[in-house]
Amino acid sequence: MLKQNTFATCTQPPRDKSQLVAIKPTYVMQGKASKKELDIYHLILAPTHACNMRCKHCYLSDQAEQLLPKEEALRLVDEFSQMVLNERGHYGGIFHVKGGEPFVVPYLWDIADRLAELKTLHFMITTNGTFAEDEIFQRLNKYNKALEGNLTVIVSLEGPTKETDAILRGEGHFEKALSFLEGLQDNEINFHLNCVLHKQNIDYISEYVDFAKKYGATQVNFLNFVPRGRGSALNELQLSHVELYEKLQQLYEASDEQGKNLLSGSLPHVIHDASCGTCKLSNECVAAYRGLFYIKPDGSVFTCPNIASKEFAIGNICQQSLRNISDNLTTLYEQIKPCSASCVCTGEKILYEKTEDMKNIQSLNGLMSIPKASGSVGNPRVSYCFNRNW
Ligand SMILES: C[S@@+](CC[C@H](N)C(=O)[O-])C[C@H]1O[C@@H](n2cnc3c(N)ncnc32)[C@H](O)[C@@H]1O
Ligand code: SF4
Repeated sequence: MLKQNTFATCTQPPRDKSQLVAIKPTYVMQGKASKKELDIYHLILAPTHACNMRCKHCYLSDQAEQLLPKEEALRLVDEFSQMVLNERGHYGGIFHVKGGEPFVVPYLWDIADRLAELKTLHFMITTNGTFAEDEIFQRLNKYNKALEGNLTVIVSLEGPTKETDAILRGEGHFEKALSFLEGLQDNEINFHLNCVLHKQNIDYISEYVDFAKKYGATQVNFLNFVPRGRGSALNELQLSHVELYEKLQQLYEASDEQGKNLLSGSLPHVIHDASCGTCKLSNECVAAYRGLFYIKPDGSVFTCPNIASKEFAIGNICQQSLRNISDNLTTLYEQIKPCSASCVCTGEKILYEKTEDMKNIQSLNGLMSIPKASGSVGNPRVSYCFNRNW
């Protein structure tokens, strides 16, 4: 039984427009290495692992029905809002609901109501896009307006054709997701696409970008397939890290301006470098940076969805305040990044070390030898999430 918490609810300071952080239609998770904190704070809540689908690649091992109590979820919105207001200003943080499937969460609209009332946080939802219902689009439209355009929906689609999507998501998903995208487009909701890349869809990435343009997506997040949970059974589909990186970079170089913008979620470090020339990249990812939280249905808190096992928990929102939990980040940082010459993706590295997956350890090390990916040029400065599996 989860314990009820009694932290004081937040009182909202007067709204100061000069504090507003402009959230662009594209989003990259990044932070300054010197400060070990995210530029835009990002809290990812999986209120449940329950889901209407059973995708072959899913990193969850089951779709258990456990649900974080509604009061805890709403209190979390208040607490995170206060933290963001104090440390980042209005809309300087993202409250991101994923799962499981957000549209099966019975109190999803209560969260949205609270966010709309506060007007302090960007609202993000990652969905399988199977709930193409008028009522849902009307609500999303209403919340998008209430949040002054600070709503982003990420839709998962694993290929630009029904055949490629069906490899991981099964028959029928593609058609449903298409109707969902049309609903978002008709209601002027900003949306991104998530696509997990593997050996059987890698040759369709250019077609995928064309598809994204046609449907009006503002960002494409090509994700590295991480074989864990149910997805462990598909490990033979995994591409090497270097191959994936090189294919994406070739696509970026061959793309027009719109295509390059769309890829900002897939090659953030390359795009950052291209846009400012002299910018320096850090040697590490953003795991254990302040402002990054990943919360499971039992309330346990982690700082990277790839290292969400007990020994890496930094606290539990049902027993502690988010602020207190945040203070544990420094200790975790020292635990997972003992030396400064760290890794482009600490989460994946730890995951593979735990399972003694030598093939993947070597594959990930290969990525570190690519200068742009490893950030070995110049002084460390900006850190990214290279995995984007959040
Ligand atoms: C776990 S799902 C939860 C949200 C929602 N049910 C969905 O499918 O979008 C979040 C994202 O993780 C991706 N994902 C799931 N398993 C993965 C894996 N083994 N490796 C990489 N990404 C994965 C999904 O494709 C999806 O884009
Ligand atoms: S990837 Fe998403 S839709 Fe698919 S089973 Fe996992 S949680 Fe459900």
